[in-house]
Amino acid sequence: MRFTLTMKPPSSARSGLPALFLLSCLVSWSSSEDVVKIRPFHFPKFVEEGEEVPIVCGLRERDEDVKFSWFKDCFLLEPQKGVKILSTGEFSVLTITDANGQSSGNYTCKAEVSTGRDDHTAELLVKGPPSWRSKPSDVSANLGDRVKFPCETFGFPIPRITWTNENGDLWEMEPEKETPTRVHVIKDGAFVIETVKEEDGGLYTCKASNGIGVGLQKTIRLNIIGE
Ligand SMILES: *[C@@H]1O[C@H](CO)[C@@H](O)[C@H](O)[C@H]1NC(C)=O
Repeated sequence: MRFTLTMKPPSSARSGLPALFLLSCLVSWSSSEDVVKIRPFHFPKFVEEGEEVPIVCGLRERDEDVKFSWFKDCFLLEPQKGVKILSTGEFSVLTITDANGQSSGNYTCKAEVSTGRDDHTAELLVKGPPSWRSKPSDVSANLGDRVKFPCETFGFPIPRITWTNENGDLWEMEPEKETPTRVHVIKDGAFVIETVKEEDGGLYTCKASNGIGVGLQKTIRLNIIGE
């Protein structure tokens, strides 16, 4: 059975619409009868900031010269500062010349011949200090409200998040329970008070650390309104 695609290959994405672009990322182009097959590749497990990371997209089978393209998180990757691409008809080498936290992502190699195509994706995680995704800020709440302070960070290894108050109480992420405790830290690092009490007012500090650099921290105030 021949698998036919009516949609255009990523060359259309290059020139065009973002929607098609993303769609082309979700569709895998390989089919069992394709005459080009990528030999699966993987990034090294531990990559430090500043390292050079070459990755080879080679083939297991081919009948003719192959056209290679690379994508990072669905977006076409062109040679640029920090990214070198060297392609022949037989293989393509992508080199991240100066890895940093921003280099982390999913890298896809796409190989096309006139009668078929194949792709392979590998994840690169670069060790780096935590950086903010969502920082907490001061909150005013009424008694009985549910309040949530975000503290979402990015980094590898995955940062450990802790929350403390002025009294030195400490909270950490815990496995999800059917009935959560009144005050708890949820999966993305956010601090949640299910029903605010008068004595909850005050300062709270979120800290994120993963052993690289000094980590992040932010202190915010919870103001209790009324009564
Ligand atoms: C790579 O893709 C997977 C699946 O979509 C996703 O869970 C993961 O976070 C991505 N990796 C990076 C570093 O963005």
